[in-house]
Amino acid sequence: MKLTLSQLDLTSVEADLLVVPVLGADFQKLEVVNQLDAALGGELLRIAKQEDFTGKKGQTLSLHTFGKIAAKKLRISALSGKEVSAEECRLCGVTSARAAKDVKHLAVYVPSSDPEQLRALAEGLLLGDYRYSEYLAAAKKPKASPRVTLVVAHKPTALERNALAEASVVGEAVNLTRDLVNAPPNELTAVKLANEARRVSRESGVRCTVWGNAEIVRHGMTLLAAVNAGSAEEARFIHMAYVPRLKRKMPRLVFVGKGLTFDSGGLSIKPAKSMETMKCDMAGGAATIAIVAAAAKLKLPVEVHGIVPATDNVIGGRAFKPGDVYRTLGGKTVEVLNTDAEGRLILADALTYAHKLSPTLLIDHATLTGACMVALGQWRAGLYAVNDEDRKRYLAAARRSGEAFWPLPLDEDIKETIKSSIADIKNTGDGYGGSIAAALFLREFVGDSRWIHLDIAGPAFLSSAHHVSPKGGTGFGVRTALELIKSYV
Ligand code: BES
Ligand code: MN
Ligand code: ZN
Repeated sequence: MKLTLSQLDLTSVEADLLVVPVLGADFQKLEVVNQLDAALGGELLRIAKQEDFTGKKGQTLSLHTFGKIAAKKLRISALSGKEVSAEECRLCGVTSARAAKDVKHLAVYVPSSDPEQLRALAEGLLLGDYRYSEYLAAAKKPKASPRVTLVVAHKPTALERNALAEASVVGEAVNLTRDLVNAPPNELTAVKLANEARRVSRESGVRCTVWGNAEIVRHGMTLLAAVNAGSAEEARFIHMAYVPRLKRKMPRLVFVGKGLTFDSGGLSIKPAKSMETMKCDMAGGAATIAIVAAAAKLKLPVEVHGIVPATDNVIGGRAFKPGDVYRTLGGKTVEVLNTDAEGRLILADALTYAHKLSPTLLIDHATLTGACMVALGQWRAGLYAVNDEDRKRYLAAARRSGEAFWPLPLDEDIKETIKSSIADIKNTGDGYGGSIAAALFLREFVGDSRWIHLDIAGPAFLSSAHHVSPKGGTGFGVRTALELIKSYV
């Protein structure tokens, strides 16, 4: 979807569909509405009355224009309240794009002179335009995305142009994550995920180092090797690094993402139903890859690393077993009692590696536990932080992005449940507070790093569309991470 910004008169915008967002109950008094209504010979307000369009939030009014204005169709889309919010602009963008699926040229009126709201609107258009059609027959593939003109009443400012450019980068990053998550697991193996990381790194000017099985073993990542042991596919360890060429000292943010390309549960095998969506188990890894690439494209003056341990978790003669004990990269020993608690294992090695980079802040995204979905529902991610300031900063970023998180406690009492009788720690708790037990397990491997853990098992992959997210992969986490990085500028 290509978006351009133009100063145009609403009645002379040539488009197949013109979307005009309006505010609140007094929409009849708005200048844009009156201007359009006059051009349409009073039809707009007449039809609004007929259709009971009162300007209530979420209401839309669609009409043909019969050549009275240059746009062929008009869609009035009601936002709430007296003031526009960025979140409403984003949602309006999403619904506008969804309403324009068969349209060649879409025009959207920008109802605010705030560049942040323009950015949200543009972001929403890109998010709403997303469809995964890789494996559909040509006849079933969706039509090409519309060309979009964002209509402003004045000469576009530099700030507005930047906002639009930023929205494009962010929208593309989210949609790239969605593509990677939606790709089937026979296609998107760890090797393929690493190749994708290399490809986007090349495109965005990011350094990318990839280790294969031999290097993973040589560098002592025993847990990543153990989870991979039953697989016919090789594992990969991916390290992307965006280091801006600036003289001064910069904050260093290190992102780690779970890259489990398919989770069968291993020998502690999952029931068939629970396995159906387990291609989504690399969503944290995909988000991590997209975050680093986007930070580089935005040329943010912050050092950003992305680390993704990647493998599937399947069964074979060499598969790791309940009862196995491994000496980890960090020196601690881990007893594996459930091979389905594999995410925390591959993350343990990755977090040990990430800690060595001396991050200003270490952040991991992981589809880690079903327990987190039980606790918070499927649309909200769990957030754990060892530092109050970091938690506040992250939640502030989430408020700007519109993604939903909730802080959960690193409850010391639950540490009791991950004690092993023969090793330093075991990979399961007692079944209660499962998301917390997993977080406490991870904490053993971050040393004294300031660390945030995001359990995104719910919102990373949806059974049906919700809010700005489509069914399937959502790209959850990417937008908040980019807001967070910007907060360090
Ligand atoms: N990948 C799953 C968690 C998950 C569940 C993600 C549902 C997305 C949707 C993870 O590896 C897992 O299997 N966790 C177990 C942990 C348990 C064995 C301690 C779980 O949540 O049941
Ligand atoms: Mn699992
Ligand atoms: Zn998993």
